[in-house]
Amino acid sequence: MSRSFAKRTTSVKLSPIREVFEMASRTPGLVRLEVGQPDFATPQHILDAAKDALAGGHFGYSSSSGSEEARKALLQRMQEDYGISFDPASQAIITVGASAALYLTLHALVEDGDEVLRPDPGWAQYDGVTIDCGGTPVLYPLEEASGFKTIDFDALEKLVTPRTKVMILCNPNNPTGGVLGRQQLLKAYEFAVDHDLYLIADEAYSAIIYGDSFVPMLQLVDDKSRIITLGSASKNYAMCGWRMGFVIADAEICSHISVFQSLTNLCPPVLSMMAYAAALSGPQDATVAMRQEYTRRREYFIKALNEIRGFHCHAPEGAFYAFVDVSELTNDDVAFCKQLIQEVKVTGIPGSSFGPQGKGHVRFSYAASMESLQEGIRRLKAAFGEK
Ligand SMILES: Cc1ncc(COP(=O)(O)O)c(C=O)c1O
Repeated sequence: MSRSFAKRTTSVKLSPIREVFEMASRTPGLVRLEVGQPDFATPQHILDAAKDALAGGHFGYSSSSGSEEARKALLQRMQEDYGISFDPASQAIITVGASAALYLTLHALVEDGDEVLRPDPGWAQYDGVTIDCGGTPVLYPLEEASGFKTIDFDALEKLVTPRTKVMILCNPNNPTGGVLGRQQLLKAYEFAVDHDLYLIADEAYSAIIYGDSFVPMLQLVDDKSRIITLGSASKNYAMCGWRMGFVIADAEICSHISVFQSLTNLCPPVLSMMAYAAALSGPQDATVAMRQEYTRRREYFIKALNEIRGFHCHAPEGAFYAFVDVSELTNDDVAFCKQLIQEVKVTGIPGSSFGPQGKGHVRFSYAASMESLQEGIRRLKAAFGEK
């Protein structure tokens, strides 16, 4: 058989994060600090809701926008947490994780030749999806001096062309853990208005924050027509494998996203969605407890990493990543991470996978257990020495 594949198969590749994940999964004896996956079990009341859903025989399709129950539960959570309102019937879609939320949103907005601004460093998945839509990712720099918490607006301005259509904010940021404060968000919003851009706020880590600087984009402005918020159950509720997330956006955008969801999944998986509705509407104590535990791990891990010779990192304000500058030790972070796996038996993600500004960095996750973090630090200190 002559095998020919669509051209897009050559332009999109497995993300480096998934590559390291696959490689690490095949290698025994590693301390796994590469993966951004909570080591907590999904909270009991959410499991109970899933059991009830199973016992109740909820095995049919839902609307392509997700169930009414889950969208109302999302509204309740956004109102209680942030005072944000929207119409759950027309302005919210439940998706298969924030990943699908991103995929469907960009497929509704981006076509051949369109340009999508995304932060550097930032989650590389933005690039793959943009390219899959025929668009071009354009990376705008976050300022390293601020711990990647601020946008270089002068540089950003120079990147705009008549084809720029979307700007993505990753807040809190993966990989840096930086949180864009109120002023930064307002400036980004004004920038989007001035250049008539859609503004995607990827807030997948919205509940994993260590101070009070996180503000959801929807809370800041009255005219929400250009704002598209992406959210996730994965990190906030330790529900990675349940594959639940959402989009909140203008009704017209949502109607397009719903059509694309009908083409990819018909609808979100209903049992997961019932569990997610319980997560959103139920008590939030488990999320608070997880945040407290991440706070404890962060205190330990960031201090310990900074004790290692050649390692430097800022304390993140959100998410659960340490973005470590190792440029004193290497000018090739990809080779450095391979060396970490093969010789030190610790996994991390090369910083350059997140954009050119990530060069010379390694991302470690502290969503791993305290024991894993301690063992990882022990191995790293043994390999590189202490300051
Ligand atoms: C910034 C960011 N957005 C979205 C996602 C996707 O999350 P999920 O598809 O599990 O909801 C991730 C996952 O790591 C992420 O880091």
